[in-house]
Amino acid sequence: MAFCVAIDGPAAAGKGTIARAVAAHFGFAHLDTGLLYRAVGRRMLAGERPEDAAAALAPDDLADENALRRPEIADAASKVAVIPEVRAALVDFQRAFAARAGGAVLDGRDIGTVICPDARVKLFVTASPETRAERRFAELTGRGIAAEYEDVLADVRARDARDSARATAPLVAAPDATLLDTTTLSIEAAVAEAVRLVGAGRP
Ligand code: DC
Repeated sequence: MAFCVAIDGPAAAGKGTIARAVAAHFGFAHLDTGLLYRAVGRRMLAGERPEDAAAALAPDDLADENALRRPEIADAASKVAVIPEVRAALVDFQRAFAARAGGAVLDGRDIGTVICPDARVKLFVTASPETRAERRFAELTGRGIAAEYEDVLADVRARDARDSARATAPLVAAPDATLLDTTTLSIEAAVAEAVRLVGAGRP
């Protein structure tokens, strides 16, 4: 069976950085599944039905990652992610990616619970809301996107609530996931710990 690493957790906990670093370290492919929901959210903001947008999603929709990272797109993404038909339309693509022969790392909210319940390694990456808001604030301003810390914190809390409360595939750690709390860890320390955990799970 292909070696799949599932990395889940709330917004701005460090999942993306950790997933990219783990993939680079082991030579695995990486899919940030949040981009799929962001792309659907962007098409919804442009007037499309989210269900139709998810069914018609194409590689071009993911091309402009900087635009997909904008806060209003994140908010739209967490709204469309509540819709069961949207989630269902994105399952096959994610599972096919997870089955890549060379190994794959997927990060998101439901990778270890729904998309790859048989993943060889599952990490649930978390951090306090304040720490996550500080990181997201630094990321946005670093990208030249104007933001206020208090707004970013409110957005983090609102998305946590929506992602955790939804009926279909809510944000929850798989029972067999290893918890990685990055609140007091540097990026380097968090990545090193993730690489160690994935290495321990390799055949
Ligand atoms: O990881 P992110 O911030 O890019 O995710 C954007 C939104 O997409 C998030 O609020 C919830 C949703 N999402 C999801 O429901 N399931 C996933 N596997 C990934 C993201």
